[in-house]
Amino acid sequence: MSPHRTRIIQLVDPAALAARACEEVQRAAHEALEQRGVFHLALSGGSTPKLLYRALAESGADFSRWHVHFGDERCVPPGHADSNFRMASEAWLGRGQVPAAQVHRIQGELEPAQAAREYERELVASLGATGEVRLDLALLGLGTDGHTASLFPGSSALAETSARVAATFVEKLAAQRITLTLPMLNESRAVLFLVAGSDKVDALRELFHGDPEARPLPAALVRPREGNVTWMVDGAAAAGLQDE
Ligand code: 6PG
Repeated sequence: MSPHRTRIIQLVDPAALAARACEEVQRAAHEALEQRGVFHLALSGGSTPKLLYRALAESGADFSRWHVHFGDERCVPPGHADSNFRMASEAWLGRGQVPAAQVHRIQGELEPAQAAREYERELVASLGATGEVRLDLALLGLGTDGHTASLFPGSSALAETSARVAATFVEKLAAQRITLTLPMLNESRAVLFLVAGSDKVDALRELFHGDPEARPLPAALVRPREGNVTWMVDGAAAAGLQDE
């Protein structure tokens, strides 16, 4: 873990984590809008960020110059119960506060390789307008096995060194996923990990106190070349920040 660019913020519970993360997202948005007139945010999937998305929906912020992307998606249609797009829509995007043309959905219903190609094309078209294909802020979660986005231990997508988006088959889930790759994530101007729950203690402990000689967990490979990494961890997961 590269400590000099890593910030750890501990919050008492998921509600406090969501509130603090909402502040952080809006701070990043303000900075991006000041500097470039647009804010490019990539959402994380899973369950942890739901409260954050609800907080953003209730924040009263002006989203007119926000572009919302996705860090990964399951290979399912947008209305499927497993869809990250559906989760984010129910919690926030369905309210139409972000202009529809500025919500960039990964088309999970397409054949995976095609979905990855289409999404990379849309990312470049949307982000490239500011000159560099870089996210302003990437929201990420942490799996119990140390995965992040859909970069799972041992997955082919982890080895991708040039493509910005990859289709990957996740053995343990027997499921296809579409994910941003490390080259894309490590171009982010900032990364915010949201981690809640006692089931994340072991992964956090391995990340922050594991054997430096061991194969790094996927989340440890997210090291933006110029960005900062912030970890927001709730009380239940925070035991993992302490060495045994
Ligand atoms: C996904 C996410 C994934 C998630 C972690 C943590 O599509 O599931 O992108 O990386 O962030 O699995 O998930 P929870 O927040 O549900 O614990």
